[in-house]
Amino acid sequence: MIEAVNNKELIDKLESEHRLEMQEWITLLGTYTDEDRAYAADRARRVADSIYGKSIFIRGIVEFSNICKNNCYYCGIRAGNECLERYRLSEEEILECCRAGYKYGFRTFVLQSGEDLTYSCEDICRIVSKIKAEFPDCAVTLSIGEKSREEYAAYKEAGADRYLLRHETADEEHYGKLHPSEMSWKNRMRCLKDLKDLGFQTGCGIMVGSPYQTVQCIAEDMVFMGDFKPEMIGIGPFLPHKDTPFKDMPKGSYELTLFLLSLSRLMLPEVLLPATTALGTIYPRGREEGVLAGANVIMPNLSPTEVRKNYMLYDNKICTGDTSAECRGCIEARMERIGYKVEITRGDHISIN
Ligand code: 5AD
Ligand code: FES
Repeated sequence: MIEAVNNKELIDKLESEHRLEMQEWITLLGTYTDEDRAYAADRARRVADSIYGKSIFIRGIVEFSNICKNNCYYCGIRAGNECLERYRLSEEEILECCRAGYKYGFRTFVLQSGEDLTYSCEDICRIVSKIKAEFPDCAVTLSIGEKSREEYAAYKEAGADRYLLRHETADEEHYGKLHPSEMSWKNRMRCLKDLKDLGFQTGCGIMVGSPYQTVQCIAEDMVFMGDFKPEMIGIGPFLPHKDTPFKDMPKGSYELTLFLLSLSRLMLPEVLLPATTALGTIYPRGREEGVLAGANVIMPNLSPTEVRKNYMLYDNKICTGDTSAECRGCIEARMERIGYKVEITRGDHISIN
């Protein structure tokens, strides 16, 4: 009883001061109740409405290559997974996805891939500049992993507006349990700092319930994100993939994911916060509930239907049998049912306008 009251006070404090101390995070994340979650969701939705209104931004994701040099233990397209067909879209195929997307009202294209070294820096820059030349009213977001500062600078120069690179965990030791030793937490942090420095609208984020994650880890994530002030935060539940070392690990908590969306909104009121595909996979109405808990972005798939089943980061990913047109219509209907409207704009972070 007493704890519930304290947690509401912590949620109020987060809303007014936009930060909590590490110990307060640990208390809140270790003792929250359903009532606390409902309270946070209500506060977070009000905050989002006061800034972005009843509008939801959409981004079209083009998964242009599932080839990856890395071996993250959680990820279905890890290099070591030999059970899937690898593919790469040509430049023209990528542009075709964007053309279809433009017709459906997308004004942000997210180019996502594994860390595929066959695309040189020049290749990526050329693709970005072609998209920007053909669609000058659109934003381009890259989500292609860890690169050098020079490469990030070149992408920016070519016209890329935003970059997504989840930090995965702010705890270096935890990072080591999710990734093989060739990958380093320090380099990931270096990448995020470079991206922000270079003027990208930068996104970081975590999987909720990733193996070995503790309350302390999530508290560290919240403190890190409060300090880093990303323009975007990607948060979805961990979901196991059958052909990865984490195949038998339990999936993350749907409820905790929603709670963390709400707390992220209260901590960084203007943040661009997607209700992720993983959230829609763990629960059929997950994306709607994510919006009602404070999210304001949805990122439907724009990839050709034929390749979607080969971009399975986790089992049972939704939309792999659907077309871009179907996803677009589906999202519009889902949002309208809960009183929100899909907006046809770039949907920049409010600090950009
Ligand atoms: N479950 C949930 N999310 C995952 N990602 C990768 N694999 C999984 C999984 N098994 C997330 C990671 C990555 C993003 C592109 O997808 O956080 O950064
Ligand atoms: Fe793809 Fe609903 S968003 S079918």
